[in-house]
Amino acid sequence: MELVELKIDKDVALITINREKALNALNSEVLNQLERVIAQIEQTTSIRVVILTGAGSKAFVAGADISEMVKFTPIQARRFLKTGQKVLQRLSKLTPVTIAKINGFALGGGLELALACDLRFAATTAKLGLPEVTLGLIPSFGGTQRITKILGPSLAKQIVLFGEMVSAQRAKDLGIVMDIGESANLDLLVEKYVQKLLKLPPVAIDAAKISIDAASYLDLETGQELEVNLAANCFSTEDLKEGMNAFLEKRAATFKGN
Ligand code: CAA
Repeated sequence: MELVELKIDKDVALITINREKALNALNSEVLNQLERVIAQIEQTTSIRVVILTGAGSKAFVAGADISEMVKFTPIQARRFLKTGQKVLQRLSKLTPVTIAKINGFALGGGLELALACDLRFAATTAKLGLPEVTLGLIPSFGGTQRITKILGPSLAKQIVLFGEMVSAQRAKDLGIVMDIGESANLDLLVEKYVQKLLKLPPVAIDAAKISIDAASYLDLETGQELEVNLAANCFSTEDLKEGMNAFLEKRAATFKGN
């Protein structure tokens, strides 16, 4: 059985981290398989939404694999953590909208994986956190950087310095997750948002993603230049004509994705 499963159903891909006995902890093999799956998605241009989840009902991903890391020398640790950063960065650069379906514990590298997605939805019973300091470590699959960009330094320090878990409700209040739902209804909740996304024009969604992500590494002037170029490109699409004409004709738009 694969440690990372990929199912493609037309325009939606579902990635499942499949290591339930270890609460889907990320070891080197899982990271390698995840990278291969990401590469497959990169090559499948029909995919518009990627959902990432963990096998079973207990955990999304409970972090990087502590039993593997405990034996590392600093050089080995650097290699492993760099691999984690690289894989999560590649995930964050995918063109489809990426969604973390947080079905249980999302801790350490598990929360970092979710933070590398565009959107997060959680079961009301899920617990989220970056407990690395309690192990003598810091979040190091990009977590200190992404949590700070999402929450700002003050809230990021409140989460990281104590290493305590927060409830799904608190994560929603903080804006880490978009919505929460009962475990049994989480699939339906995510499906509702996926269907909304699929009805929207892909070129505009893609441009919005690129422009928002660029805000974290470009200055305002350069970012605005990118934004206006992406916006101008939207004017070459039939979907823009349809969206604007539908508004003017007071009817609902039907986007064709071109
Ligand atoms: N690595 C390796 N194994 C893990 C794991 C992890 N991160 N998390 C859980 N497991 C394993 C446990 O060792 C246990 O295995 P055995 O059955 O062989 O003993 C199995 O999964 C079930 O876990 P528990 O018995 O601990 O289950 P629990 O219900 O008592 O507790 C939990 C659940 C609170 C999530 C607890 O497992 C836990 O605290 N896990 C570790 C969370 C953590 O610290 N994550 C951060 C890792 S460091 C990191 O991620 C670094 C980075 O930034 C890249």
